[in-house]
Amino acid sequence: AAPTPSVCGIPLKYVSLVTLAVQNSMLTIIMHYSRVSTPSSRMYSAATAVLMNEVLKGSISLLIAFCRIESSSSAESLLSTSIRPRVFMNKFRKLSRDVFSADCWKLSIPAVLYVIQNNLQYVAASNLPAATFQVSYQMKILTTAAFSVVMLRKKLTSLQWVSLLALAVGVGIVQIQSGVAAHHGSSSEMSVMNASKGFLAVVAACFTSGLAGVYFEMVLKNSQADLWVRNVQLSLFSLLPCIAHIVFSDSSVPLVSSGWFSNLFSNFGLWAWATVLVQVLGGLVTAMVIKYSDNILKGFATSLSIVISFLASVALFDFHMTWPFIIGSVVVLNATWMYNQHPQRVRLVTSRDLRA
Ligand code: C5P
Repeated sequence: AAPTPSVCGIPLKYVSLVTLAVQNSMLTIIMHYSRVSTPSSRMYSAATAVLMNEVLKGSISLLIAFCRIESSSSAESLLSTSIRPRVFMNKFRKLSRDVFSADCWKLSIPAVLYVIQNNLQYVAASNLPAATFQVSYQMKILTTAAFSVVMLRKKLTSLQWVSLLALAVGVGIVQIQSGVAAHHGSSSEMSVMNASKGFLAVVAACFTSGLAGVYFEMVLKNSQADLWVRNVQLSLFSLLPCIAHIVFSDSSVPLVSSGWFSNLFSNFGLWAWATVLVQVLGGLVTAMVIKYSDNILKGFATSLSIVISFLASVALFDFHMTWPFIIGSVVVLNATWMYNQHPQRVRLVTSRDLRA
């Protein structure tokens, strides 16, 4: 079997899970800040941010995929400078063949779903307090489990079903807080928040997250294709819906005018770019987590980020804790822990049984 990839001796599986937890909390906070600290008249376009995310992520994946292509003969690694362009062209041809392979269309489904999800995330982050958004977004564990059962034929234990129910109840309790917080938001939050709009966006994003994640896992694990090639395919298929959204969401400026391009990036300041960069990191790490672990463990990593985002929200956004928030968060964290602990216990018992 191929050796498990590692960074400084730590398996990539754990490195990617911890990175994802930190990235998730950074994204929640930075995205929320970038949206609510600006009056809506000077707001940057979320559709442009989603497009930039795909362009950057796709380019980075393309570069990595290119570097990972082996030279066709060992002699080529000892090449003279005169044949370097030929080797480059050979690699380029191989990469194009891989990217435009017969089954590349399979990535169009998660691509469209992720574009919808990435846009919904901006709606949610603009309308809910950062910590509330983070906790509600845990409902994606529920949708991921449901789609895993239906599409991957995964079997869940009764304890796992109970923990999923507890998760839904916990999120419901946290929602009691969001109505209050949206009406009494801190004075530094200049945009008006609409809690029901934010919550609807979260629910919809949880559906696309579960479906797209499980579908991506299915495509990745049922073929030999390289992860980075799959990422390039995903980004390529995302471009069309991203551009369509930009065109249809702002019809005030004609598409062929020079003003259209500058309009795309109007108010696109430091915080908007920071949001995009953290999202690019998240996309790359998510893909690695799905490859080296699975979608369920991904849920566990993101639930760790609840605690980080929560503490940061109290410090940065003057977030006021209420009992429903505390009780709901504890229920959500416990449910996530319960959901993820159970399969490991079953495995431990089995191996001990075998030794006996
Ligand atoms: O919330 P969730 O974990 O479903 O979010 C996944 C995020 O990772 C989305 O923003 C999606 O665009 C990104 N992603 C990616 N490449 C993949 C899988 C997910 O960029 N291969």
